[in-house]
Amino acid sequence: MNVIDALKWRYAVREFSSKVIPAQDLHELADATRLTASSYGLQPYKLIVVESPEMREALLPHSMGQTKVRDSSHLFILASHNDINDHFIEKYFAMTAQVKGIEQQALAGFKQHVKDVILGMPEAAKRQWADQQAFIALGNLLTVAALKSIDACPMGGFDAAGFDEVLGLTDNGLRSCVICALGYRSDHDSSAQAKKIRPDFDNFMLRV
Ligand SMILES: Cc1cc2nc3c(=O)[nH]c(=O)nc-3n(C[C@H](O)[C@H](O)[C@H](O)COP(=O)(O)O)c2cc1C
Repeated sequence: MNVIDALKWRYAVREFSSKVIPAQDLHELADATRLTASSYGLQPYKLIVVESPEMREALLPHSMGQTKVRDSSHLFILASHNDINDHFIEKYFAMTAQVKGIEQQALAGFKQHVKDVILGMPEAAKRQWADQQAFIALGNLLTVAALKSIDACPMGGFDAAGFDEVLGLTDNGLRSCVICALGYRSDHDSSAQAKKIRPDFDNFMLRV
């Protein structure tokens, strides 16, 4: 499938079959998520892949009745970091210096700029910034899944506090931001026949 065909083929699947995503494909989906661009490259989120049936059952009461949390092949959770602080930025720049094989001192000016911008944000804005980065990863994940003919349903309809508790995220400095059920559409999925609702191209793209 070319990109546009894949994007027309995909839709938000509401009922999944029992088919399981093979390990290599699963790894590719996770890696595509990891390789997503982010503001300053800071990537202020982690990917949690929920495989355990017990864990998924425990998440169900916090999923607004959306059984795909339990019944899809895999559940991805994009979880934003709560502690975007001096240490977080220092760690990122230490990694950058190591990967580039340069002295950390060479990055000092840029690091200070990043600290000024990110640490200067009020807490709520910082959380919003982190969540925005996680949503970019969600978009990337959806496109890559479609290109691989793997189905998905992006989901904001869940109780984040409940998820955080079940998954023990808060203790790890994380909070669930957005989730995505992945797998293969069921033959009985009623959403499969739904028309794609999008603005007309000419109404969508404005040329100036
Ligand atoms: C951030 C986000 C959150 C969403 N949350 C849910 C959800 O909780 N449950 C659901 O069934 N679909 C959810 N959707 C799917 C949208 O309803 C769907 O993508 C939209 O109607 C467009 O349809 P299509 O993806 O089938 O083309 C969500 C989509 C996005 C991008």
